[in-house]
Amino acid sequence: MTRVAVLPGDGIGPEVAAEAVRVLDALGIDHTEHVFGGAAILAQGTPLPDETLAACRTADAVLLAAVGLPELEGAPVRPEQGLLGLRRELGVYANLRPAHGDGIDMIIVRELTGGLYFGARGTRDDGTWYDTCEYTRPEVERIARRGFEIARGRRGRVTSVDKVNVLHTSRLWRDVVTELGATEYPDVPLDHALVDSFAMTIVEAPQSIDVVLTENTFGDILSDVAAAVTGGLGLAASASLGDEGPGIFEPVHGSAPQIAGQGIANPAAMLRSTALLLRHALGRDDDAAALEQAVDLALVEAPTPDRGGTATTSEAGDAVLRALGAAPTL
Ligand code: NAD
Ligand code: IPM
Ligand code: MN
Repeated sequence: MTRVAVLPGDGIGPEVAAEAVRVLDALGIDHTEHVFGGAAILAQGTPLPDETLAACRTADAVLLAAVGLPELEGAPVRPEQGLLGLRRELGVYANLRPAHGDGIDMIIVRELTGGLYFGARGTRDDGTWYDTCEYTRPEVERIARRGFEIARGRRGRVTSVDKVNVLHTSRLWRDVVTELGATEYPDVPLDHALVDSFAMTIVEAPQSIDVVLTENTFGDILSDVAAAVTGGLGLAASASLGDEGPGIFEPVHGSAPQIAGQGIANPAAMLRSTALLLRHALGRDDDAAALEQAVDLALVEAPTPDRGGTATTSEAGDAVLRALGAAPTL
């Protein structure tokens, strides 16, 4: 029997997760809920309790809303460490972040378990604090292969984004991507861009972009930029996948503490992430497409304040369920 592990997390996390749970129920998908992030630190002293990790490992997919509490920002034990730990433990090295709208159809393929996020870090005797960006050839190869496969599947092209004019690891990145492109994917057009000017391209000419292949830190930043030009963080979904085992399906946005508790968060990013779960983890392509259409309709019918409307989170959820034919009409 299929089971989804739901991690509501912090801030607006539980508010948008509740709408996703209504959709899972409507589709007859079994789910369990687990404490995670800041909520888990406050309750148990750790952001990723053993019970939560075990439940995620044995689930068919993980549906994660958001973590982060202002009072724990910069603390020694942080909610975000739970998220990074879960990504590492599940080996989900490929983070797919689609962004679409108004002639725009791009997907950022972000490396998720390496680079600056997972390199050596510490403090030296002389008082220097450091983080290290580290990549191995196999780590770059597997994410590059994922990017090329996605581009091939949509008859598109790959833009690999690095900082080869400055960073040592970017030289490895560009070499590996170039070599793989030439040997295994000669049919997939490939170009390279430097991250600073590419950020500008996302803002100025997003229609010109197809598949973006990039490392962890650059992908984090560029995906918020891509979200900004396609309707905002309230809409941006993602799928974090490994080669086997459960994937994590998670909005690009965080816990949005400024609007938490008001019931006005946009559930669209969470519901689009749920659609990615249906497609990638459960093979329910028709349900995924139906949910995506329902979300598009609800965005017009019941927009939340971030989209210039007045709908609450649950009213937006109602509109999605109505469009899915799973709720009584008004
Ligand atoms: P954020 O994504 O939480 O919010 C950025 C802006 O977008 C805010 O103005 C917020 O109100 C708005 N926003 C985000 N999601 C929205 C939604 N669904 N509906 C309407 N508006 C929405 O980023 P931040 O403020 O920089 O970070 C807050 C906390 O979230 C931090 O603790 C951070 O570490 C954490 N964070 C977690 C994740 C995650 O769990 N995957 C991702 C990003 C940030
Ligand atoms: C994201 C978030 C996370 C990241 C944080 C919360 C660890 O910003 O998923 O984009 O940087 O990967
Ligand atoms: Mn981010």
